[in-house]
Parts: sequence; structure tokens; C-alpha cells
Amino acid sequence: MSSDHPGNPYLPMPVVIDSIFIENEAKDLKTFRFVFCDKKDRKKFKHECGQFAMISVPGAGEIPIGIASSPLDTEYIEFTVKRYPEGVVTTTLHSLEEGARIGVRGPYGNSFPIRDMEGKNVVIVGGGFAMTTLRATIKYILDERNRSRYEKITVIYGARSPGELLYKSELEEWEQRSDIDTYITVDRGDESWKGREGFVPIVLREVAPGSENAYVLVCGPPIMLKFTMIPLLELGFGHNRIITSLERRMSCGIGKCGRCSIGSKYVCKDGPVFSYKRISELSEKMV
Ligand SMILES: Cc1cc2nc3c(=O)[nH]c(=O)nc-3n(C[C@H](O)[C@H](O)[C@H](O)COP(=O)(O)OP(=O)(O)OC[C@H]3O[C@@H](n4cnc5c(N)ncnc54)[C@H](O)[C@@H]3O)c2cc1C
Ligand code: FES
Repeated sequence: MSSDHPGNPYLPMPVVIDSIFIENEAKDLKTFRFVFCDKKDRKKFKHECGQFAMISVPGAGEIPIGIASSPLDTEYIEFTVKRYPEGVVTTTLHSLEEGARIGVRGPYGNSFPIRDMEGKNVVIVGGGFAMTTLRATIKYILDERNRSRYEKITVIYGARSPGELLYKSELEEWEQRSDIDTYITVDRGDESWKGREGFVPIVLREVAPGSENAYVLVCGPPIMLKFTMIPLLELGFGHNRIITSLERRMSCGIGKCGRCSIGSKYVCKDGPVFSYKRISELSEKMV
């Protein structure tokens, strides 16, 4: 791996695993903090909220993963990765320890409309481990350099069980803050759980955030997305103000191989971030 070949877009930049955080009870979700081996590569890697990168694990392969750290975290980049028992790359990555050297190329794709959201209310709805790029966005917006640019911030985040909630210390921090309304929910609690129970779309209905002058960013498993769109539309969110991120199998990550196409669009290049309006138009073209 080398960072000295500007002409070859497929060459990853070498990084070292600086820290690993186990996120859930099942231990199949880990956040990896990477530090670039060459400081020049860190300067080159300027990402925006919602983008992804290709992580390459020697001997296993390369996979697209959303960037979970804020663009303001300039010393490192973070990715939260789910291990699939049959998944070669995620299983190998999870077997690595701090100090291991792997590769990253990117950042790729478009981003959440972070500038258009300025001066507006921002609603963030996340489910399961799709919270990763939303976490990057929340950290970015809450930073003291940015908070005053946004109006009311509402976060609704759900997981199957308390043990599956990601970024637990940050969730607690957000719950303590008075400049963000945080609603954490689990499908089913346990003996120790004192918080809210219920599916994300139901909590969304209860919270009923106003749609006026507001954007909503929503990421989660397909079933959650499907049932979350109904209350969002009922609450009056404009089709171009409902923003989500799509996942497709990818190979090149840069719009060359066609693997991730939906109709005439490539999720890696034209996405992964799409408005509900854009997705509806794409679905119409496909039938
Ligand atoms: C833009 C983008 C952002 C992404 N961000 C993240 C992220 O932040 N964190 C993260 O963990 N993943 C993310 N993914 C998904 C990730 O790329 C895949 O999980 C990964 O490619 C799996 O690689 P693998 O080699 O381990 O498994 P593979 O060998 O590709 O698959 C083996 C088996 O694992 C299971 N599997 C693999 N991927 C999935 C999946 N996504 N859903 C359900 N079952 C699956 C299936 O049973 C599959 O047959 C993202 C994907 C995209 C396109
Ligand atoms: S992954 Fe190759 S075109 Fe999108």
C-alpha cells in the first residue's frame, strides 16, 4: 500500500488501527479509529457528513463503510463496522488488533445537505447500526463552532435492545444537553432498562417534530425506513427535505464499474445520500 501514486484512484492510503471500541453486547459491532501513516494523507482526506470510504483489509478485500467521525475530528477517522459471520472482510477486520495496518481510500459520494440545513430545524432519525453517518452529523452540528448555525435539533434513535445501542456515552451526553432534544428507544427493554420502549416510527409520531423550516435525515434498516416515511409525510415534511442514505453492493466506489447502479444513477457517485423526492423519481424510472 502506498500513498505516492496520485494517478491511481484505486490505491488505498495506509492507516493504522489506533483504537477499537466494542459497541454492543453481541460484540459484532466495533468502532475502529484509524490514524493515517502519512500526515499528508490525513490532510488530503477531507470528508463531509454522510460520505463513505473504501476500507481495504489485506488478504480479505475492500468494502464501503460510512464515515462515523465528524469532519472536525482532524486527527483520526472512525468507522463502525458490523461483522457478518459469513462476511470475509468484516470478519477479518474484526479479528485485527490495535496497531494493525490496513488501507483506506476516499472519501467518496455526496453528503448530507449540511449547508442548506443552516438556519433550519434539524430532525435526525436513526435505527440500528445505520446511525454511523448520523452520529458524524450530530457531532458536527453540536460543535461549538457550528451549533448556532442551526435551530432546534431533535434526535430519535432506536435499536432492538439496550445492548444494541451504539455510542452509549455520547447518547448520555446528548440527553444531558439542553440544546438538543434526544429520544432514545428500544424495541424491547430488559430488567435494567428505564428508558422508552417502542419502534422508531411510533416514537416519531409521539414526538411529532414540526416540519416547518425543517430538514429530516433518516437512516436505518429498510423496514424502519418504510414505516418512518408514513409519519414523516403526514407531519408535512417536503419530499426534498426528507434525506436518507442508500446502501448497495459496491466494487470501485467511484462510478466506474456499474455495480451499484439504480436505473441511470450510481449510488457510489450520485449518492449515497438521496432525498425522498429523488428516490421516488428513480423508482418510477425503474418500473
Ligand atoms: C455507502 C455504504 C455505507 C456503508 N456503511 C456501513 C457502515 O457504516 N457499517 C457497516 O457495518 N456496514 C456498512 N455498509 C455495508 C458494508 O459495506 C457491508 O456490510 C460489507 O460490504 C460486507 O462485507 P463482507 O465481505 O464482510 O461480507 P460479504 O462477503 O460481502 O457478504 C457475506 C454475507 O454477509 C451478509 N451481509 C453482508 N453485508 C450485509 C448487509 N449490508 N446487510 C445484511 N447482510 C449482509 C450476507 O449474508 C452476505 O451473504 C455500507 C455499505 C455502503 C454501500
Ligand atoms: S461501485 Fe462501481 S460504479 Fe458504483
